[in-house]
Amino acid sequence: MAMERILIVEDDDSWMDFCATILEPMGFAVDRAQNRMQALKRLEGVPYDIVLTDLCLPAAEDGKAVVLGTKSRHPGTDVILMTATPSLDTAIAILKDGAYDYIVKPFTPDYLQTVLNRCLEKRRSQQELSVEKALREEVQAAYSQLRKVERLKEAFLSRISHELNTPLAEALMAMTLLDGHLPKEGRGRSQLKMAVQAVERLRDIVRDLLDFVDLHKEDLTLKAEPISIPQLVGEVAEAEKRLLEPKGLRVSLKFPPDLPSVPGDPELLKRALRQLFLNAIHFNKPGGQIELSAKEWENWIFVHVKDEGEGVPNEHKDEIFDSFYQLADFMTRTVGGLGLGLAITKKIVEAHGGSISVDSAPGQGSDFKVCLPKQKTK
Ligand SMILES: Nc1ncnc2c1ncn2[C@@H]1O[C@H](COP(=O)(O)OP(=O)(O)O)[C@@H](O)[C@H]1O
Ligand SMILES: [Mg+2]
Repeated sequence: MAMERILIVEDDDSWMDFCATILEPMGFAVDRAQNRMQALKRLEGVPYDIVLTDLCLPAAEDGKAVVLGTKSRHPGTDVILMTATPSLDTAIAILKDGAYDYIVKPFTPDYLQTVLNRCLEKRRSQQELSVEKALREEVQAAYSQLRKVERLKEAFLSRISHELNTPLAEALMAMTLLDGHLPKEGRGRSQLKMAVQAVERLRDIVRDLLDFVDLHKEDLTLKAEPISIPQLVGEVAEAEKRLLEPKGLRVSLKFPPDLPSVPGDPELLKRALRQLFLNAIHFNKPGGQIELSAKEWENWIFVHVKDEGEGVPNEHKDEIFDSFYQLADFMTRTVGGLGLGLAITKKIVEAHGGSISVDSAPGQGSDFKVCLPKQKTK
């Protein structure tokens, strides 16, 4: 630990020596000044940790001048006054000028040590506090910087996705019109089909971006309507059924009769389940099965989306729910979007007070399980 520096200001040589012989063994680097002028000169240099000054040097004004001189130059330095009983009132008055403590002469070595140790302890805890404060300020500054970058990112994503959305919708509309003008068979039609599929894939990616931005707005509001899960899941499967045929996939729906409803936002929950359904299509094996089911357990409704694809390795079961996280390399993959689907689903499910997880063994398919609070009965 660095040696603490102390300045003893004392015009009486025997008191000066007495103090120095106590302070040096305590580990202080001791400097001496015999009067106010010498003291003020020393104070021009590197700050002391503590100034131990006699009050009357020879007049009380000299002691006061040392206190004021110290505090004005180095507010962090602590001043301890040594005073004889007749000047005690003056010493106490000088505490108001910034002296830390006083000690009444004559004193024992033990007493001087106690007063100085107390002062050192106070200084150390002050230092710890100021380090803690500096750290806290640093963390706060980093956090607000991060929030700024985060907001910029959101604004950027929002802007580009809106800018992309309109031309994509226009392209799809033009393709629909073109479809009406083309002969029923022929190369033109198959090329148009390819173009439509590519634009639809782009539109899905932009839609994920828009959803992602929407869901991260601070004022996300949720409806709480009673929702029939079998009906909602049925609608999701119906809307995307055209994607099943190219891979020869089959879908089975399994719901118990009288499944209680779930309070929620139908539009958002549909988006959440759609992502799971799309993944079950994209990551399934050709000719595979997709099972959509739900069951009731205590106060919860569990919705399962099960496929027969490669599955999710154990070590990625949590990360796949992070935004932009994908198992396959984005550049080489042929299916899926930007890696936002599961992050979107998780956000929506959690906003409903639910949770999501996946059960999977490699090569055995995946079973995504969404748990939602069921509607309370009155
Ligand atoms: N049913 C599934 N089977 C296997 N892997 C899956 C399945 N669903 C998701 N994944 C993995 O999790 C990743 C993240 O999924 P998601 O967030 O929907 O993003 P995306 O579909 O855009 O890649 C996928 O890229 C894939 O690696
Ligand atoms: Mg996906």
